[in-house]
Amino acid sequence: MRRLILLLSVFTGVAAADENAIVLKHGQGKELVSSQCAMCHSLDYITMNATVLDRAGWEKTVSKMITMMNAPINEADKKIIVDYLVKNYSK
Ligand code: HEC
Repeated sequence: MRRLILLLSVFTGVAAADENAIVLKHGQGKELVSSQCAMCHSLDYITMNATVLDRAGWEKTVSKMITMMNAPINEADKKIIVDYLVKNYSK
């Protein structure tokens, strides 16, 4: 019975699990990024861009999320987020 339930949850959970399949690298700021950057889209937007964005690129991207997409991120959090992204997901 337990196995059946497990299987069921695997199948029904496919779409949702996919969205959350990305587990960010451990580091200072991880929780902030995980919560603030997964509100509107999957975190794979971050991993997908890791090879193309440097510090300037991430600053621009996070600023764009705030000014154009209305992400509710304040200046202090923005700094922590950008530092985390540069350290862990930058070219
Ligand atoms: C309020 C909603 C919202 C939040 C919060 C948000 N984003 Fe986005 N993000 C978007 C939308 C909408 C797009 C798609 C934009 C497009 O298609 O041009 C996007 C696209 C992206 C892209 C793809 C490249 C680009 O410039 O379009 C990256 C990378 C990205 N977001 C990173 C982040 C990061 C990092 C955070 C956290 C700091 C974040 N996003 C938070 C709405 C959001």
